[in-house]
Amino acid sequence: MKNYLTDSREKLSSLRSLNDFYILSFESSCDETAVAVTKGREIVSNIISSQIEIHKRFGGVVPEIASRNHALQIDHLTREALDAAGIELKDVSAVAVTYGAGLLGALLVGVSYAKALAYAADLPLIAVNHIKGHVAANFISAPELEPPFIALLASGGHTYILSVKSMSDMEILGATLDDAVGEAFDKAARVLGLPYPGGPEIERAAKGGKPVYKLPRALKGEKRLDFSFSGLKTALINTVHGMRQRGEEFSPADVACSFQTEAVGVLVDNTAEAVRRTGIKTVALAGGVGANTLLRETLSARGEKEGFKVLLPPKKLCTDNAAMIGVAAYEMIREGVSPAPLSLDADPSLEL
Ligand SMILES: Nc1ncnc2c1ncn2[C@@H]1O[C@H](COP(=O)(O)OP(=O)(O)OP(=O)(O)O)[C@@H](O)[C@H]1O
Ligand SMILES: [Mg+2]
Repeated sequence: MKNYLTDSREKLSSLRSLNDFYILSFESSCDETAVAVTKGREIVSNIISSQIEIHKRFGGVVPEIASRNHALQIDHLTREALDAAGIELKDVSAVAVTYGAGLLGALLVGVSYAKALAYAADLPLIAVNHIKGHVAANFISAPELEPPFIALLASGGHTYILSVKSMSDMEILGATLDDAVGEAFDKAARVLGLPYPGGPEIERAAKGGKPVYKLPRALKGEKRLDFSFSGLKTALINTVHGMRQRGEEFSPADVACSFQTEAVGVLVDNTAEAVRRTGIKTVALAGGVGANTLLRETLSARGEKEGFKVLLPPKKLCTDNAAMIGVAAYEMIREGVSPAPLSLDADPSLEL
């Protein structure tokens, strides 16, 4: 009798030196159900079904509702992704799936579906870390990119400055000690009465505003390049509540702009410091907050001024998608990754 894992191992090793095979990938860690077909570092199809409208009325993602919707969507989105790519399942060479970090129930839908499909179609399965997937989005928009490079990963659940040596070797140079920057954007939006997700809302609200409120910077002058966004969020909340209690008129645009300016400022300052310390002159932006225009412009301008190259994936590849998972898997295959066993489980708090 054939052994699935031994068979998968052989298939992956024969793919290792190729770049023209199709990977079918799945992402369901939060509120996007996403399925993609990739070939090497290229997107062939990239289907993203966002649940934002469903969760908006609750002011944030409701985990149980997210997993139920993933379960409803994943099968027909897979059909859509294959159709859009103009291929059949028999043309696919490997399956990739996000297995963490994220919401347990949500992850389980993608993991179970990918495992079943991989087994039924006799395909090797690659288990991908969501955060590494965000970093890998840069290989799509900059196909010539090779490590080492610095990655600024700014998302809804994570904030890291990474020294990327390979997919399996990413050194953490700095990390948030409390809230992720995306989470801080979401909470800042809530204080101003803006809907979920807060990042794009703060960005919109900040237009025409001025950074008149001086918000504190935590961990200034520390040796590590860590972040603390909880203090920034609290300072913002106190500023707004204080003005409301005193009955003072204030401009929400100025508040949003002050918050955005400080959040972006600390991300860019620490990233520039990472470049100075490591001597690595390429910086890749990743994660949902990477869609923020001020962050993109400020980081690019700093790169120009200080002589480092800045890679900015298109906004659609910064937020959650499955193409980044497929390309991460392709890179992992090139590096000789082992296939995932069918006992693969979702890991909600998977570390880098
Ligand atoms: N234009 C923007 N400006 C600032 N923040 C943004 C913007 N667009 C999206 N975001 C923020 O990005 C976050 C979503 O990003 P992403 O999808 O990468 O996070 P996640 O998948 O929930 O978390 P993680 O990737 O850490 O598991 C949200 O917090 C959202 O507010
Ligand atoms: Mg994400």
